[in-house]
Amino acid sequence: FVRSFATSAQRANAFNHVTVIGGGLMGSGIAQVAASTGHTVSLVDQDNTILGKSMNGIHKSLERVAKKKFENPAAGEAFVKDTMGRISTATSPITCVSHTDLVIEAIVENLETKKKLFRELEAVAPEHTIFTSNTSSIPITDIAVAAKRKDRFGGLHFFNPVPMMKLLEVIRIPATSDATFDKLLAFGKDMEKVTVSCKDTPGFIVNRLLVPYMLEAVRMVERGDASIQDVDTAMKLGAGYPMGPFELSDYVGLDTMKFILDGWSKNYPDNPLFKPSSLLDKMVAQGKLGRKSGEGFYPYK
Ligand code: CAA
Ligand code: NAD
Repeated sequence: FVRSFATSAQRANAFNHVTVIGGGLMGSGIAQVAASTGHTVSLVDQDNTILGKSMNGIHKSLERVAKKKFENPAAGEAFVKDTMGRISTATSPITCVSHTDLVIEAIVENLETKKKLFRELEAVAPEHTIFTSNTSSIPITDIAVAAKRKDRFGGLHFFNPVPMMKLLEVIRIPATSDATFDKLLAFGKDMEKVTVSCKDTPGFIVNRLLVPYMLEAVRMVERGDASIQDVDTAMKLGAGYPMGPFELSDYVGLDTMKFILDGWSKNYPDNPLFKPSSLLDKMVAQGKLGRKSGEGFYPYK
């Protein structure tokens, strides 16, 4: 009896070629994990300077993963090199999408921008290509109106940092076919994530609970109830969270937090949990976006 251990790269994946559009925090992480689990990946963003930063970030993150995963440094180096070799970059999605099996959209959290992108993709993607969005807060149904292939449309919501966070929320809309949904669940497994599903409701499961919590922390500070540092210490040591709500807001990006809140407060004006925050608005206006800009609730320079 010989047991064989197939690596994820040798195993047959549900999809072969994946196009990730948006090479920011999330797109980079998604592209990295897709490539390290044997997919060939095209990573698309607006210009080569951004893509250069994305590829650098992926390389650094892969080195951290390799250090944990392989005792033998040569095996670690080979893993990093193989994974990087499976990712190519492009400044337009048109060419890569013409031969892709799965599109994962991870661009800015703005409905009109996302719809415009999917309208363009619909014209060039082959019939079999499945479209998905990694949106944090916008109903998938609202984005899918831009595409004809509604039976091949769904949500794949990853968590930051993608290489470390084990969860993937897989969302179907009423029109999503069973075959598409099954393939998205299989893809989650291929990506070595644990999948959960829920209705196409605002924030799905995690953000519907997490974002109001993070915003209530901001409101506590706005009211003068407690300091940023004390709230973070309290939630780490008193509730066992790995990061306090302000550290986490900086990690997620304050611009993304504001996009989420603006969308929800416009669509659900009567829900007090989704009320805008003047502190968040002010910080974003000052360019304090969190870790990605070098300053948020904390400095990172
Ligand atoms: N890539 C690869 N490995 C990473 C990594 C990355 N980006 N970040 C952390 N690691 C690994 C490394 O192995 C690291 O060890 P080394 O430093 O030796 O390489 C190890 O994790 C521990 O990391 P740290 O010492 O830096 O810090 P930590 O122990 O606090 O772990 C963390 C980091 C996993 C991010 C942890 O703090 C955490 O889980 N934070 C909460 C994250 C969270 O809640 N994410 C969800 C945000 S909400 C969201 O994503 C949805 C949305 O739509 C807004
Ligand atoms: P980010 O700002 O780090 O990256 C967005 C990237 O998209 C940027 O590099 C930008 O240049 C690029 N972009 C914008 N418009 C584009 C277009 N038309 N074509 C190609 N590229 C374009 O943002 P992020 O944090 O990676 O978030 C991306 C998406 O993922 C958002 O929908 C967000 O809500 C969602 N999300 C974010 C997190 C988080 O923790 N930050 C977690 C899960 C999901």
